[in-house]
Amino acid sequence: MSATPFNLSLPARGTTVQLQFATSVPSDPGAALIPVSAGVDGVELPVTALGATGLLETLEAVGATGKQGEVTRVVRDGRLVVAFGLGDSDDIDEEAVRRATGALARSLTGIERATITTEFGVRPIVEGLLLGGYTFAGVKARPEKDQPTTRIDVVGDDSAREAFDRAVIVAESTLLTRDLVNTPSNVLYPDSYATVISEVAAHSGLEVEVFDEAYLADKGFGGILSVGQGSARPPRLVHLSWHPAHATTTVALVGKGITFDTGGISLKPADKMWDMISDMGGSAAIVGAISAAARLEVPLRIDAWLPLAENMPSGSATRPGDVITHYGGITSEVLNTDAEGRLVLADAIARACEDTPDYLIDTATLTGAQMVALGSRTAGVMGTEEFRDRVAETGREVGEASWAMQLLEEHEEQLKSPVADIRNIGDSRNGGMQYAGLYLSRFVAENTQWAHIDVAGPAWNSGSPWGYTPRRATGAPVRTIVETLSALAE
Ligand code: BES
Ligand code: MN
Ligand code: ZN
Repeated sequence: MSATPFNLSLPARGTTVQLQFATSVPSDPGAALIPVSAGVDGVELPVTALGATGLLETLEAVGATGKQGEVTRVVRDGRLVVAFGLGDSDDIDEEAVRRATGALARSLTGIERATITTEFGVRPIVEGLLLGGYTFAGVKARPEKDQPTTRIDVVGDDSAREAFDRAVIVAESTLLTRDLVNTPSNVLYPDSYATVISEVAAHSGLEVEVFDEAYLADKGFGGILSVGQGSARPPRLVHLSWHPAHATTTVALVGKGITFDTGGISLKPADKMWDMISDMGGSAAIVGAISAAARLEVPLRIDAWLPLAENMPSGSATRPGDVITHYGGITSEVLNTDAEGRLVLADAIARACEDTPDYLIDTATLTGAQMVALGSRTAGVMGTEEFRDRVAETGREVGEASWAMQLLEEHEEQLKSPVADIRNIGDSRNGGMQYAGLYLSRFVAENTQWAHIDVAGPAWNSGSPWGYTPRRATGAPVRTIVETLSALAE
């Protein structure tokens, strides 16, 4: 039942599909999974090779339209056909295929075996099926009966095999990120999270170092310590590295790992606070991405820095007005303890930049303002101009909506504090996403090309499933980062 590539100390994952690559349609193919689209005169079969005579008429007769996400079962010559809608015939791109196969993966109940061909590309089909078929079992006394998985042969010629294997790795890494984000905060807290990351490292061929609170105090990681000091569960800093021989380009990855964000003394309202189990989504995406990079043997020298802390109010918590000293010496006036992500990221970015990487990507569920600016599905990308634009473009290519946002000149003045070098919130909520970006920019090395991806909305779907996006953890922006790394390696 488990699609988890690794056996981790996490609640069980389920899946509705199990894929295998085949170079020809097997003799016992099971159900035929057939793409259909919506043309001006109704349902169409865009892949003519599969258009068994009369199929179209049958589909029409049962009311199929070919619209995106529609799944229709018919029987033809004693064989089950499952038609899945790609949407508008004029508008079929990779993302349409990914979404359609995502919805398909959730509609295969009772089907043991099936076959799909790959005229629309191996990658979107594999990603759509695996991402759409994901389920998270949670922690239940009596686990719901698993939906039996559908074994699917993905048929392509021999040259498609590599694309299949790569797509499986990328999808599995995204699912790993989802598992981490979906795990409740009493199970996944800084120390247990560091342990799980170490397990992932062992399975993917990564080096790992876990630094505890004593080390952090000794080396002056004042941001991570300040955020973690209100919690009974002390903070950690995890360093993962992938250093293949001969790699010359260096990349640093940094991800926000707040295992739960209550806001601290600047306490959040109770309603919806539970969504803050996802506040380690940035770090989980980095774990997924670097694990994929290692399994894909990407020829880059990659170092990931993950600051893990739980933001709690208590007698030992940071107070509004406290001044902290970040790793490297910059001081900050903490005016709002709920603007904690930037505090832990600042330390991690400063540490990452000590090694003067060519590129730095950081990602975080950083600001509610991201959703005000761009909605809940589109990531805000900030940073150095060229690389920022490149990462945003890459996000759109892989189906993770992203938009480049400028840092704002008017925030420069607001960043100043009468008692410290900088302060952690601006004067108003306007441009709150960019204020956080500007804060982080103070810790990025001068010659490093930098992209900061705010995924406050995109990392977590509090609504219903759609396309290949389930409820709760989405796995964003793993695919953006993996694709960016692959491109940098070329
Ligand atoms: N983790 C939150 C941001 C967030 C909000 C992520 C909603 C996902 C959904 C972050 O730590 C936070 O609390 N930010 C504050 C910053 C403010 C105090 C300047 C915010 O956005 O309200
Ligand atoms: Mn917060
Ligand atoms: Zn937060």
